[in-house]
Amino acid sequence: MAKAVADGAKRVQGTEVEVNYHVPEEELAGYDAVLVGTSTYHHDMPGTIKNYFEEVAVKNVSLNGRVGAAFGSYGWSGEAPKLVLEILKNKFGMNVTEPPLLAKYAPDPATLEKSSDLGKRIAESLIR
Ligand SMILES: Cc1cc2nc3c(=O)[nH]c(=O)nc-3n(C[C@H](O)[C@H](O)[C@H](O)COP(=O)(O)O)c2cc1C
Repeated sequence: MAKAVADGAKRVQGTEVEVNYHVPEEELAGYDAVLVGTSTYHHDMPGTIKNYFEEVAVKNVSLNGRVGAAFGSYGWSGEAPKLVLEILKNKFGMNVTEPPLLAKYAPDPATLEKSSDLGKRIAESLIR
């Protein structure tokens, strides 16, 4: 899904995209948009992602007004991307795209297309 999101964003001329597993917290403020991919485990986001946001907050990294989105695969309840969006919006003051994009287990071609569209829409909104 992350690759499809990135490919969609790259279709918009002038957009620079990175796909990373981990960005040093301090460097997050250097991005116009942050799109977080997360699967759901035990009705929650993985601890690594939760801890990462804690570090972003502890280090006072300002994301206020930046663009945020969340996506991810799930099995039966799929809470994590929604929880991530709440944190991006309410804790960090980001402008988020709702609802989050979900894929049941592996993304099918239609979901990959929606992922690509998400990236493209966000890139277009930033270029304007
Ligand atoms: C231990 C475990 C707990 C899970 N808990 C949930 C859950 O609470 N809700 C849900 O929707 N999916 C749950 N899943 C399913 C995963 O979200 C799903 O398999 C997802 O595709 C995993 O993606 P990943 O392999 O990229 O991490 C769980 C899977 C495992 C192995």
